[in-house]
Amino acid sequence: MVYVTRKASFSAAHRLNNPELNENANSELYDKCNNFWGHGHNYTIEVTICGKPNPDTGYLIDLKLLKKIIEENILSKVDHKHLNYDVNFFKGIITSIENMVYLFWQQLVDKIPNGKLYKIKIWETENNAIEYFGEPFEVKIFEEKEKANE
Ligand code: NI
Repeated sequence: MVYVTRKASFSAAHRLNNPELNENANSELYDKCNNFWGHGHNYTIEVTICGKPNPDTGYLIDLKLLKKIIEENILSKVDHKHLNYDVNFFKGIITSIENMVYLFWQQLVDKIPNGKLYKIKIWETENNAIEYFGEPFEVKIFEEKEKANE
């Protein structure tokens, strides 16, 4: 088995907010991350594929292809976007990195032609990162909350 990792980065804005909680509770729970208009991060993601290299090519997966798969399925959808408003797969979902890594996994898991998706790691800041290996967990989709101003 070999583990091949491709790294990429994107910039996005988000706001942590639970539509079922009131303003004070959200502010207490998410603090600065609850800022009404959102705030930005420069995210770094690492996508790791595992499997056995093809003896004829010496490759598990062509990294140019992996780069393209990440661009098409993730970066093109989130880079320079507001995750709460611009990204379909985040609709109604709290934009934490826990949920992000789960959603990115769903975006990629069926798109890997050789080997299989082994791990996604996301750095939200220099000090905060998350790793995910695909074990299912519950991600809650909140009802459309079209209360323009809460
Ligand atoms: Ni944040």
